[in-house]
Amino acid sequence: MIMKTKILHYPDLQKAKLRDSKSSNILSIKNEHFDDLKKLANGKKFYIKTYGCQANVRDEETIKGMLTQVGYEETNDIKNVDLIIINTCAVRENAEDKVYGEIGNLKKIRKENPDMVLAICGCMVEQPEILDFLIKTFPEVNLYFGTHEISYLYDLIYLALTTRERIVNIESKQGDVFEGLPSKRNNNYKAFVNIIYGCNKFCTYCIVPYTRGKERSRRFNDILDEVRELKKQGYKEITFLGQNVNAYGKDLNENHDFADLLEEAAKMGIPRIRFTTSHPWDFSSKMIDVIAKYDNIMKCIHLPVQSGNNQILKLMGRRYDREHYLNLVKEMRAKIPGLALSTDIIVGFPNETEEEFNDTLTLVDEVKYESAFTFIYSPRRGTPAAKMEDNISYKTKSERFQKLVDRLEIYISKDAETYVGTIQNVLVDCISKTDNKMVSGYTEKNKLVHFPGDETFIGQIVKVKITESHTYSLIGEIVHE
Ligand code: 5AD
Ligand code: SF4
Repeated sequence: MIMKTKILHYPDLQKAKLRDSKSSNILSIKNEHFDDLKKLANGKKFYIKTYGCQANVRDEETIKGMLTQVGYEETNDIKNVDLIIINTCAVRENAEDKVYGEIGNLKKIRKENPDMVLAICGCMVEQPEILDFLIKTFPEVNLYFGTHEISYLYDLIYLALTTRERIVNIESKQGDVFEGLPSKRNNNYKAFVNIIYGCNKFCTYCIVPYTRGKERSRRFNDILDEVRELKKQGYKEITFLGQNVNAYGKDLNENHDFADLLEEAAKMGIPRIRFTTSHPWDFSSKMIDVIAKYDNIMKCIHLPVQSGNNQILKLMGRRYDREHYLNLVKEMRAKIPGLALSTDIIVGFPNETEEEFNDTLTLVDEVKYESAFTFIYSPRRGTPAAKMEDNISYKTKSERFQKLVDRLEIYISKDAETYVGTIQNVLVDCISKTDNKMVSGYTEKNKLVHFPGDETFIGQIVKVKITESHTYSLIGEIVHE
């Protein structure tokens, strides 16, 4: 397929790195071709596939809301589809490899359907070299848009449909805040609520600050209005989202911080409030006090540590040291009885020595996390760490990775065992993937529980007696009151 490429904007990592102190613009959606696209899209089918973090999942919900508003209908039948959107993640190489595989698989479908729009969006295309490669390798893709362009989706699809050119619109911006975008949530009892976009931390290994722009908070009342509306609609759980929720409000002149936001939301009475992700650098005592005070703020904190060694933390640009982190954990555990702590850890940062890695193991021994995500360091082009020479072999990194997982599992299993015999409130999510007579859901502290039940349980909070524990899940039975 030969197609001309029309570049509206192309990403530029130097621009993506800029940070000013200006407040972000609060914008509402404006598309020239909304009505034109409505005529073309009515009854047409779309398919969307999302990779990556909750920010991407929330973007997917916005995209679905926008498409539904002009008449597109969602389908899982990829063979009969008029629009395919692949929403990508750039955080590690294996996330990108999955996307290459996915687009490769779509080649045939694309050939059979020349009128279709095949779009790639999300964090991956924010990287110029990756975008060059995609354009060269996958001529069948005819629309690329970035994380800042979702609000112009109607115009972009309209252009791709009517010009028969490959449209590229990815601008490396610090970013704005869009309010009032439509949204079709994936779930009618659990909701993600964005509170702050972007990241200013620039940890040296991480691509996210380049792909998602600067830290910019939504207005306090806009967020609370959304929570109020979700409560009215019967939602049982909300999760406040941000790359770093603790920075909430710092860029606004509203005099409200994350603790204030949590407190006001808790007072509204939604049964479960969660939040992710927290950076240890700006987690305040005031936040800990608010979490301790309200029963409906779940006693779980995801507190990425990344490494237990001070030299590595310094090279990572994390802005805290081991002692600061452990003191924070101590304060949290003292003020919030029964707190469940989870974390992210990277092994194999460039030149990490055995001793430095051992500091991560001893930190795990001290904190005794209730759950954890572990990663092998993946160099991201354009980040400072990717320029560091690295003399540690992949084999050594893999061995350390396994050692770390084994160590974490000791504590995760021990914690799981303490649940046996207790009664837990479980918000039921779905029929179990392995046994259709069982349902699966999460406790307040985010432990996965399977127990006998049917689809009438989905979306309900029920009492479950725990009868058995595994490292990553619990088995139980419903308690009839
Ligand atoms: N390599 C490996 N893991 C990474 N993360 C972010 N960037 C990288 C990278 N380049 C991990 C961090 C972060 C989580 C979301 O992903 O642990 O907290
Ligand atoms: Fe990446 Fe660090 Fe920002 Fe998290 S805080 S998104 S790891 S730069």
